[in-house]
Amino acid sequence: MQLAGKVAVVTGGGSGIGRALSRRFAAEGAAAVVVADLAAGPATETAAQIISAGGTALAVVCDVAHEADVVALVDQATEAFGRIDLFCSNAGVAIGGGVETGNDDWQRAWDVNLMAHVYAARAVLPQMLARGDGYLLATASAAGLLTNLGAAPYAVTKHGAVALAEWLAITHGDAGIKVSCLCPQGVRTPMLLGGLDQTAGAVVAAGGELLEPAQVADAVVAGLAAERFLILPHPEVATYLEHKATDPDRWLKGMRKLQARVIASLSGPQPH
Ligand SMILES: NC(=O)c1ccc[n+]([C@@H]2O[C@H](COP(=O)([O-])OP(=O)(O)OC[C@H]3O[C@@H](n4cnc5c(N)ncnc54)[C@H](O)[C@@H]3O)[C@@H](O)[C@H]2O)c1
Repeated sequence: MQLAGKVAVVTGGGSGIGRALSRRFAAEGAAAVVVADLAAGPATETAAQIISAGGTALAVVCDVAHEADVVALVDQATEAFGRIDLFCSNAGVAIGGGVETGNDDWQRAWDVNLMAHVYAARAVLPQMLARGDGYLLATASAAGLLTNLGAAPYAVTKHGAVALAEWLAITHGDAGIKVSCLCPQGVRTPMLLGGLDQTAGAVVAAGGELLEPAQVADAVVAGLAAERFLILPHPEVATYLEHKATDPDRWLKGMRKLQARVIASLSGPQPH
């Protein structure tokens, strides 16, 4: 897909990757970008940046964890610009911890990181199927292909997002629906810098290069142009995935070693 002339919706568009995607889509000549976010100020700011650069944008306040909000977002965007060509389910929440994490936090991870993608597809697919054309982009994570040390709710729900994207691509691909799944490792955004605890920070530090949101947007534009399912801004993720698929036991052992290194780095130099 080329973005010129297209109408795009981006959830979580008030910050980080979503803001970078919104701005980049507009710079590529999108007819309009609908910037949806839980936070009104940041969504308005992204839209204002696009408009002051000569683009067309609309800010919409939307909690993607609530289906009625997602339906209203699709209705508002379609009413304003006639159709939605590209829907980016990008909003997400970083929820760490293990199985001891409370049900409320598990539910929030489930609602935002997975059910929001179900709600988006349910709301936008009818118009796309009627036209025989449309594009869904899901921001999952490398955590959805591999895992996330120390963050079970995040890793599990991101796996769900990848599984849903695969299912949509298979089920609706022959009807003209394209699907891509964005799976970065660390990206320098408020989620990564502010929302994670010390353990998760150390995991990220052990997990390779930290990209800028604009670099992720570059990868997305290239991935959409190629209509590639997996968009991997950190290409080494493909190699890790191959290792996991080829020899899962060896991969698990390697992940345990990485975890031990992270724990050791957190406890600092040991007294002799
Ligand atoms: N930053 C990373 O290292 C990284 C890596 C892999 C995947 N991701 C994924 O990228 C996506 C964007 O994350 P980011 O790093 O740009 O984070 P961010 O915190 O900078 O931005 C997330 C945005 O989503 C919005 N949001 C959160 N919950 C929402 C809800 N219920 N409804 C609507 N909007 C909501 C927030 O207000 C915020 O503006 C997420 O899905 C995240 O899991 C991030």
